[in-house]
Amino acid sequence: MSLLLLAPNRNMQPWKEALLKKDSNLDIEIWPDISQKNKVQFIVAWNQPKHLLNTFPNLKAVTSLGAGVDHILRDEALPDDIPVCRLVPPSLVRQMKEYVLNTILNYQRNTLKYARQKRQGIWETYPNKSPQEFTIGIMGLGELGRPVAEQLAGLEYRLAGWSKSSKQIDSVKTFAGEQERNEFLSVTNVLVCLLPLTRETENIVDLKVLKKLKRPGYLINVARGEHLVEEDLIYALDKEWLEGATLDVFTEEPLPHRHPFWNRDNIMITPHVCSLTPPEEVAEQIVENYKRALSGMPLNNTVDRNKGY
Ligand code: NDP
Ligand code: OXD
Repeated sequence: MSLLLLAPNRNMQPWKEALLKKDSNLDIEIWPDISQKNKVQFIVAWNQPKHLLNTFPNLKAVTSLGAGVDHILRDEALPDDIPVCRLVPPSLVRQMKEYVLNTILNYQRNTLKYARQKRQGIWETYPNKSPQEFTIGIMGLGELGRPVAEQLAGLEYRLAGWSKSSKQIDSVKTFAGEQERNEFLSVTNVLVCLLPLTRETENIVDLKVLKKLKRPGYLINVARGEHLVEEDLIYALDKEWLEGATLDVFTEEPLPHRHPFWNRDNIMITPHVCSLTPPEEVAEQIVENYKRALSGMPLNNTVDRNKGY
């Protein structure tokens, strides 16, 4: 019986140590150094190679190494009966709140413009935007989107939120479903994408969506690169529908050196670091789910494989 850490190009040694601190009897292997495939019963996966998940005959469950499960669910090698779960520790939520708030403050205080001016030696001022001058619209009101919306509403920003099913959140104007999406966009200046990546949400942030935003618009994508049609963002920036964008996630990561986003002063780029999962904080959750999987109990934090999140 073993637990496999399957995350190519990542140093999984600290994860192994954190798990062993919780239970020193665990047999933990790190891909690709595995002794026998038939020993593997539980996999902790991040961007696993394709055609692999169906090669472990005694696999009982898979957990994502983070909050998103899109990389697991889109893998056709994943057998239909294998439950999938995810990790959303409190510090993931805290880090996401910090990132979005920091980006909003940069938007209000024209930080990207001043960074460009510094490089060019230009002294030109712009008005600071007050929280009442613009509305922040959060797409996705789940484990991360909801606390982000609540924090910003508590700081007296104007907030709108959009989700699949209707929600009630203090001081947030909420919208639900396809039928209310345009209304949500029409009140939003700063669009924050915090949706899961599913068949329904792939490429959701396209030209039509960006055109519907209130001006000046701004985009913050902290969910998945595939939510955004990248060339549509370039077009919307050139048309000045948007003042800028802050992107943490990209269709291809690392973002290729020749990608047009790098040369844009009005696009802030961070390398998928909004919320980093600390191994010590989630080790307990992983061990608990591993033991549950072995004894046939329902897992914590499972996702609905039909819904895709
Ligand atoms: P959750 O699954 O908890 O929440 C998803 C939300 O999106 C729910 O409110 C859901 O609505 C809504 N939603 C799903 N599909 C639709 C749809 N078709 N139309 C409208 N609303 C929809 O997700 P999390 O909050 O955990 O994660 C959000 C995103 O953040 C994910 O993409 C994740 O991968 C990403 N992420 C990024 C990180 C980073 O470092 N950049 C770190 C961690 C996560 P309902 O409530 O009605 O079901
Ligand atoms: C996650 C991520 O999903 O880091 O946790 O993107």
